[in-house]
Formats: sequence, structure tokens, C-alpha cells
Amino acid sequence: MHTLLLPADKSDTAAIAAKILKEGGLVAIPTETVYGLGADGLNNDAVAKIFLAKGRPQDNPLILHVAETAEIERFCHHIPENAYRLAEEFWPGPLTMVLPARDIVPKRTTAGLSTVAVRCPASDITRQIIRLAGVPIAAPSANLSGKPSTTTAQHVLHDHDGKIPAIVDGGPCSVGVESTIVDLTEERPRLLRPGGVTPEQLIAVLGDLVVDKAVTAQIDKDAVVKAPGMKDRHYAPDCQVVIIAGSRDSAARYIHRHYTPKDRVLCFEEELPLYAGCSPLSYGSEADPMSLSAGLFSALRILDDPGIGTVFARCPVGGGVAYAVQNRLKKAAAFHIVDAEAEQ
Ligand code: TXA
Ligand code: MG
Repeated sequence: MHTLLLPADKSDTAAIAAKILKEGGLVAIPTETVYGLGADGLNNDAVAKIFLAKGRPQDNPLILHVAETAEIERFCHHIPENAYRLAEEFWPGPLTMVLPARDIVPKRTTAGLSTVAVRCPASDITRQIIRLAGVPIAAPSANLSGKPSTTTAQHVLHDHDGKIPAIVDGGPCSVGVESTIVDLTEERPRLLRPGGVTPEQLIAVLGDLVVDKAVTAQIDKDAVVKAPGMKDRHYAPDCQVVIIAGSRDSAARYIHRHYTPKDRVLCFEEELPLYAGCSPLSYGSEADPMSLSAGLFSALRILDDPGIGTVFARCPVGGGVAYAVQNRLKKAAAFHIVDAEAEQ
């Protein structure tokens, strides 16, 4: 199969993509978070192709992408007032809400759950494709299962060239980490995955937020969790990642003491001069957490090389978008964190 690369700014791109989707095919779509691997979310056979292409476990449900808030009423019921308040504030944008699913949503999409995750992405071309296709797009991140997410069309091509009909190229994703997921099906709203919409922003609207344990700790393979995708060794390159916490100087001392020529250093732009001679890779500026979220997955893909020994990674501290970067990096490191201050 030849994989078409369709530029987002070409006039017939939306129509071509919508036609493929309506016919049950897969199209990779740009969003502000990461590229998704999309199919008609109401078509069981089309959705099955996503699981096959990604090598995704069948028990991991997909997000349904809609073009307008009102559409969620077709797919969800018992929608709480909080859902409308969040949509009003953050949609279109990097927020996914888990709500009770209506029967119209295939079990393949929800992986058999009674709930469904819904999101209205900020990308104009993607919302235009959804409108033209007349169906919601079910889309996980487009990476092969277990690999770092895809934040450019080239990443998607790398993982799926010749295996899917088309990729819509909308340029690099601006947020760069997957959407924030909040579960609104329980008494208290629960954060299942941090992302571009921050916990502080959610609390400002909801007044309350429980942080699920899958966000902050390594989850056992057999544990029952709210978002099945959160327990996989996720986002991880093909080598060992260790987070080196502590001040700039103590981290540099620790890394220089342990570095061997097979290793790599993943650091902030500001730290590059400290690691001259260690082939450092910067993923953004510590002073600008959005640059770190935008750059993280590209960097992890560069480091996805079995020839590399250990990646010593520097991780931002604090809340806001940095909180989502911490979460992805900690998962890539399987929560392996060394406190450089304590090692002095
Ligand atoms: O930014 C994003 O959300 C991207 C773009 C393409 O929109 N999509 C994405 O999809 O990250 P995926 O499949 O890689 O991650 C979706 C996560 C998984 O951890 C899955 O388990 C969880 O959402 N999820 C989906 N439906 C759920 C549900 N009904 N209840 C709880 N978790 C759910
Ligand atoms: Mg994913």
C-alpha cells in the first residue's frame, strides 16, 4: 500500500481524508497534542484496524474525537454540568473527558467499558475532516504501541509507511504531549492523565480534583486501573532512561561521574554547555515548559536506539505543563529517579 502524505493546507485534503474514513480506512490526523491514528469511531471493523496497525492490546479503549461540544450527546448520557463547563473553557483543546457511553459507541472503541473518552481537538483541519466524514474519529496516538508518541507527520510515516492509506501533515504538534484526561463518571472528578490543560486550570473550573494513582506511580501489570493505557511501559525509547534530579551542578557532577561513551544526556537547552563531550540532546528550555512538552517525544524518538546504554535525563519541576512532562518522562524511565543531591 502506498501511504499518501496530505498537506493540511491543500484544498482537497479534508475531502480525501473524510472519504477514506467513511470507507472504513485509517487516516493519521494532526492535533495540537500528538498525531492520532484515526478511523470511523462508530465502525467496528474500521476501529479493529487501528488495534492491528498499532499492535495495541484490545483492552485499551480509544478516544472519540468530535468537532463540536453538542456532538457528545450522541455518544454519551448522564452528562454532568461539569462536562459542559470544561468544554466551554477548554474545547477545542487538549482535554479529554470520560463520560458514560451510549450504546451507539461500539465495544471495540470503548474496549468493553461502559464509559467513553471524548475530546474536541484544536486542529482546524481535523475538525473539518470530522465534519465532512459525518462521524466521530476514534484515534489513539499514532505511534506503534509502547513507543514514544508521534508529534510530526514524519514520525507517523516512520511507524506506518506502506501500512496505512494516508497521513494528514499539519506540521509539528504545538503541545507535544497527549491530552489531559479527566474522568467525570464518579462523584469527584479524577485526573487520569496530565497534559496541556493543567491541574490548576481544572481545579479553577471544577473546584475539586482527585489525582489517580496511575499518574504518580508505577502501576503493576495486573492492577485494575481507570485508564488501561496508563499502566504500560509507555513512551519509552529502546534503552534505559534514568532521571537525575537535583540542582544543575549536582546533576552534572553525578552524570559526569557515571557517564560512559555509550550513554546519552537528555537535558535542558540551558544545560548544554555543562555536557560538552557527552553528546547532549536538548528537548527545550527549562524556562519555557511548553518548549519541553513540544520537544520531549521527538527527543525520545532520537534516543530510541538499542545501541545507546543509559539516557541520563533532566526533568522539570513544578506544576502547570511541567507536571505533564514529568509524568511522561517518569513513565519513560519506569520511575527510575536518582537524587543527585543525596549522591554527593
Ligand atoms: O492527545 C490525545 O489524547 C491523543 C490525540 C490523538 O487525541 N490521543 C491519545 O490516545 O493519546 P491514546 O489512545 O494514546 O491514549 C488514550 C488514553 C489511554 O490511556 C486509554 O486507556 C484512555 O485514554 N482511555 C480511553 N478511553 C477511556 C475510558 N473510557 N476510560 C478511561 N480511560 C480511557
Ligand atoms: Mg498513546
